[in-house]
Amino acid sequence: MPTRAWFPTYLYCEPLQKSSTARLNTEFAEECRRLRDYDAAGRRWSAQHYPGGYTSYASMNELHKFSSAFADLEQKLMRHARAFARTLEFDLRGRTMYLSDLWVNIMPPAAAHSLHLHPLSFISGTYYVVTPPGCSGLKFEDPRLDRFMAAPPRRPNARRENQVHVTYPAEAGNVILFESWLRHQVAANRVAEERISISFNFNWR
Ligand code: NI
Repeated sequence: MPTRAWFPTYLYCEPLQKSSTARLNTEFAEECRRLRDYDAAGRRWSAQHYPGGYTSYASMNELHKFSSAFADLEQKLMRHARAFARTLEFDLRGRTMYLSDLWVNIMPPAAAHSLHLHPLSFISGTYYVVTPPGCSGLKFEDPRLDRFMAAPPRRPNARRENQVHVTYPAEAGNVILFESWLRHQVAANRVAEERISISFNFNWR
């Protein structure tokens, strides 16, 4: 083959654990909704920046430090993040990887989350708690999109890795990890039930 691919963008998707997450997710869903009831500052921030939905991103974003359930989740996420970091071949010898932020997102019908990235971290991701059938997935954008300039469009049937977007379905119990600089979005939730997820960032020192 005269042509080889370089500079890959990696995405990771795995079940949080081998055993069922059904009971765990019921507990998380209750905890997330309790948090929304309690977190007036977060509801105010969400009204401005997360229309129609609730996120604790700006108000309570270190939940792993305040709740045993989220601290337990931190341990589980760390295993996945380490596996992902190994695939990326980051040299973490003598360096410590740690979970810096962990927050809750609740998306009722019509709530959306526009294109963004996660500054000040190197691995980010989401764990899915409640994902009603038909709810929006997580859509990633080719990080080179703003440099394509004169490139013609891709064929509609182009291989998956040559397409400029990829959408991972949101499935309760799954963890999705990506490099924090990779832009992503969640389209408006079109189903009647709430979609609940827990997002997080990893940093190193
Ligand atoms: Ni995000």
